[in-house]
Amino acid sequence: MLMTENVPTLTTEDAEHELYLPELLRIAKVEQVTAMEKLFTIELPEGKPLGHRPGQFVSVSILGVGEAPISISSSPSRSNGFFELCVRKAGDVTAALHNLKAGDYIGVRGPFGRGFPVEKFRGKDMLFVPGGLGLAPLRSLINQVIDERAQFGRVIILYGARNPSELLFKDELKLWSESSDIECHVTVDRGDDNWTGNTGVVTTLFKKIDIYPRNTIGATCGPPVMYRFVLMEFIGKGLSEGNIYLSLERKMKCGIGKCGHCQINNVYACQSGPVFPYSEIKGLEEAL
Ligand SMILES: Cc1cc2nc3c(=O)[nH]c(=O)nc-3n(C[C@H](O)[C@H](O)[C@H](O)COP(=O)(O)OP(=O)(O)OC[C@H]3O[C@@H](n4cnc5c(N)ncnc54)[C@H](O)[C@@H]3O)c2cc1C
Ligand code: FES
Repeated sequence: MLMTENVPTLTTEDAEHELYLPELLRIAKVEQVTAMEKLFTIELPEGKPLGHRPGQFVSVSILGVGEAPISISSSPSRSNGFFELCVRKAGDVTAALHNLKAGDYIGVRGPFGRGFPVEKFRGKDMLFVPGGLGLAPLRSLINQVIDERAQFGRVIILYGARNPSELLFKDELKLWSESSDIECHVTVDRGDDNWTGNTGVVTTLFKKIDIYPRNTIGATCGPPVMYRFVLMEFIGKGLSEGNIYLSLERKMKCGIGKCGHCQINNVYACQSGPVFPYSEIKGLEEAL
């Protein structure tokens, strides 16, 4: 079911039961973004906003196959009756999803989880560091910040992918790079014959920027191996642990704090996360 609140509150047995019931939603458009990723535009039932905040996810189900958590990639500021999911073909559910076309239906539960506390970020400089598919959830926040540009300070984006063919949202990257009030730097681990941009892992881009750490929020999402190095750069630049936000991926099933699949010590990543300030998870064994 689609919630208008950011975090679902279970008040009655009926409400709890409803959280397990997927709503069938129509796929309006499917675009091949890279060899491995497709962007699905999903139609919302008339007049019913998804009501998400950047960083939240939905549970997508395909009848007879299963369910998978997928981040909402579109910004709440650009909803107008649709939302977007950028999906990498990884296993059963995502492969079945990749076989669907416009006009087909998927099951959707959510939005679930804790997203980015956007209201706390207003007035701050924003430093986004997505890696690979991590741009999918961060794009939701980046585009909200861009749509409400006057309410934020500097906007810096450091994006890295393994090679040029794996870069996501190339049209948006071009727009951001060309914009006079966004500082966007892109790199790839390995270039190809046509690549004239930066080469090296995403952390090599930090040397291109100067920041005012006391007024800067750092937000990162990417493969787990990247976090340790990005955190070192954030902290090296002087960001406080409470101003660093990460989105953590864990195996999830229910998405609503009931099954324990996503548990990290005493924390359920599906409810307390997937977005966490670093200060909250720093002490958690196995969080990073
Ligand atoms: C909060 C959150 C947000 C997410 N957002 C996104 C998103 O925006 N986009 C996105 O694409 N993904 C996202 N993911 C990841 C996504 O949920 C998983 O890729 C998805 O659940 C995989 O489901 P599946 O059924 O397709 O794959 P599964 O079948 O569950 O396979 C998952 C992995 O296991 C491997 N695997 C499967 N079967 C075997 C086997 N027999 N032997 C060995 N390895 C095997 C697969 O190769 C694959 O790497 C997110 C995850 C979380 C927790
Ligand atoms: S996915 Fe079930 S408790 Fe988090």
